[in-house]
Amino acid sequence: MSQTLILGADHAGVELKQELSQVAREQGFEVRDLGAHSNESVDYPDFAHEVAKAVMEDGEALGLLVCGTGQGMSMAANRHSGVRAAVCADVFSAKMARQHNGANVLCLGARVVGPGPAAEILRAFLGSSFEGGRHERRVRKIEPEGSEG
Ligand code: RB5
Repeated sequence: MSQTLILGADHAGVELKQELSQVAREQGFEVRDLGAHSNESVDYPDFAHEVAKAVMEDGEALGLLVCGTGQGMSMAANRHSGVRAAVCADVFSAKMARQHNGANVLCLGARVVGPGPAAEILRAFLGSSFEGGRHERRVRKIEPEGSEG
């Protein structure tokens, strides 16, 4: 069964999200789009929380959150235990976020990166996986002490 990519965006990111859903399908991912579905003004945390919850419930899925900068989305998504949301504006960071940090959510800024680079960043993120080993312990330490993580 193919892995799922769960998408969310606010009004600033809705168009790029749409374009990237096609990229994800081409990469063999099943796409689940939790909105927004129009460019009517909305609040990014609403979508970040929904995607974060869905990623954790699925257990295997990855997430993609798009807003103006990616920053607000990552701040909200990272409040969820087990979610590691990385804002990436370049391919190297996207690969490292997966390989070293075990990122499970990619946050992109539609006002920061154009559609071409964003597609490359997403491909890099989806095409990389966590290396484990020494990174396992470090990633575990990301969760605050006492949380279930
Ligand atoms: C919306 O104008 C903007 O603040 C939002 O898309 C995002 O950039 C927040 O981090």
